[in-house]
Amino acid sequence: MTVNDVLTVHGGTPLHGRIRVRGAKNLVSKAMVAALLGDAPSRLYDVPRIRDVEVVRGLLEIHGVRVSDGDDEGELILDPANVESATTDEINVHAGSSRIPILFCGPLLHRLGHAFIPDLGGCHIGPRPIDFHIQALRQFGAVVDKAPEGMHLTAPNGLHGTKLELPYPSVGATEQVLLTAVMAEGVTELRNAAVEPEIIDLICVLQKMGAIIKVHTDRVIEIQGVPRLGGYTHRPIPDRIEAASWAAAALATGGDIEVLGAEQVDMMTFLNVFRSVGGAYEVTDMRPPRNGSPGQEGKIRFWHPGGELKAVALETDVHPGFMTDWQQPLVVALTQARGLSIVHETVYEQRLGYTEALNSMGATIQVYRDCLGGTPCRFGRRDFKHSAVIAGPSKLHAADLVIPDLRAGFSHLIAALAAEGTSRVYGVDLINRGYEDFEAKLAALGAHAERS
Ligand code: EPZ
Repeated sequence: MTVNDVLTVHGGTPLHGRIRVRGAKNLVSKAMVAALLGDAPSRLYDVPRIRDVEVVRGLLEIHGVRVSDGDDEGELILDPANVESATTDEINVHAGSSRIPILFCGPLLHRLGHAFIPDLGGCHIGPRPIDFHIQALRQFGAVVDKAPEGMHLTAPNGLHGTKLELPYPSVGATEQVLLTAVMAEGVTELRNAAVEPEIIDLICVLQKMGAIIKVHTDRVIEIQGVPRLGGYTHRPIPDRIEAASWAAAALATGGDIEVLGAEQVDMMTFLNVFRSVGGAYEVTDMRPPRNGSPGQEGKIRFWHPGGELKAVALETDVHPGFMTDWQQPLVVALTQARGLSIVHETVYEQRLGYTEALNSMGATIQVYRDCLGGTPCRFGRRDFKHSAVIAGPSKLHAADLVIPDLRAGFSHLIAALAAEGTSRVYGVDLINRGYEDFEAKLAALGAHAERS
C-alpha cells in the first residue's frame, strides 16, 4: 500500500447518475489467455482498463504474444504468431498478482511443450487450493512439478482427452479443462462442470476459434480435441458483478444509478433478491440500429424507491444461484433493512471477515460456523464462519477502513458512502483490479471522495 492509496470519503450523499460497465473481468482475462491457442490474431472488444487485464497482458507479452490496442476504445488485438518461452524471472514478476496465470498451463503446453506458472495471487477469501487443476492436468498427461518458486509443467507424451469429474463445480478448473481439452488429442468429458455465463462465453470464444464443445444437461461438457485453432473476434458479456455492485451502492445510499451495458439475463437471480429487499429496477433492452434509426445500448436502472428495506435470507451458490461476488456489496444494503437477514456463503469458506469493518461502523452482524437459513453445505462440518445474521436497520457512521480484497473492498467503499461523516479508506488501489475507473464513476455519481 502506498501513501496515496487512501480515499477520503464524505458519506451520507445518495449516489445519482449513470455509469457504464464493460466486458466481464472474469471472461475477458480468460479470453485473452485463449488467444494463445490460435495460429491467427484475435480481437477482443470492450476490454476494461483494470489491473487483472494488465497482468494477463504482461504475461502474454513475455511469451511473445503481440498485444496492441485497436481503433475502438477497449479493443485489444492479440497476435500469437511468435509464441516463445519466457524465463522464470520474467514470469515471476507477475507472482502473487492474480489467479489467472494458472490458466496458462494448457495453452503453453500445447504451444511450447512446457510451462512455468508463478505463485498465484488473487483475493484472500479462503485457502483457494488448485488441486482440481493439477489433477485435471495430470489426467491429460501433463507432468507437474511443484517447486518453491512456482510450478513447472511438461507433456512428454502430448496431451490426451480424458474423462473427468470435478469434486465441486469450480469456475477456474472448468476453464482449465476447456483451455486444455480443445487441442488435446481425442475426446474429453467433464462432469460436474461450472456453467457460469462467463464460462459459456469462453466456450463461445473457443468455438469461434474452431473448437468443438458440447454443453449437455446436468453440468456435463464434452470437448472434441482439434489439431489447430484460429483467432476470434468477440464482444464479451457485460460485467454482472460490477453492475450488481453499483446496484447495491444505489440501494445502500438511497440513490438512483443507471448502469449502461448491464443485461438482465445473467442477473436474474440478483434482480429477484434486489426486489425482495425493496429495491426497484427497470430494464431497458439493447436495440440494434434499424431502418435509419439509431440503436440503443441496453441498461438497468437501480434505485431506492423510499420506505423501509426488508430483510431477506439468501445463500450464495454456483450458477444459476446467487453469486458469491454479489454478496459483499449487497450486505451493506442489508444493514439498512428492517429485521434479521441471513446470508449463507457456500462457495468460499472465509468470505465474511469483512463484516467486522461494517460492525465498526455501527452495523450489527454476527457470523456463525453453522449453515444458517438453507441447505447444509460442504463447510458445515468444518470450522469456518460462513453464515452471517445481519440485524437492521443500523445507522452507519464513518470509520477508518482497510480494504481486504476486491469485492469486500467495494463493500467498504459503499459503507463509507452510506455512512454519516468522513471515512478514510486505505488500500483502495486494490479496487482497480476489477472496477474500471471507479473513482471517475464515483465522481459522476455525485460522491464526495478524494485521494489523500
Ligand atoms: C472465479 O474464481 C472468479 N475469479 C471469482 O471471482 C469467483 O468468486 C469464483 O470464480 C466463483 O464464481 C475469476 O474468474 C478470476 P472456483 P475461481 O474455482 O475460479 C474451491 C472476483 O472477485 N476449489 O470456482 O478461483 C475453491 O477453494 C473473484 O472477481 C478447490 O477446492 O473460483 C472455492 O471454494 C474472486 N480446488 C470453490 O472451489 C480447486 O482446485 C470455487 O472456486 C479449485 C477450486
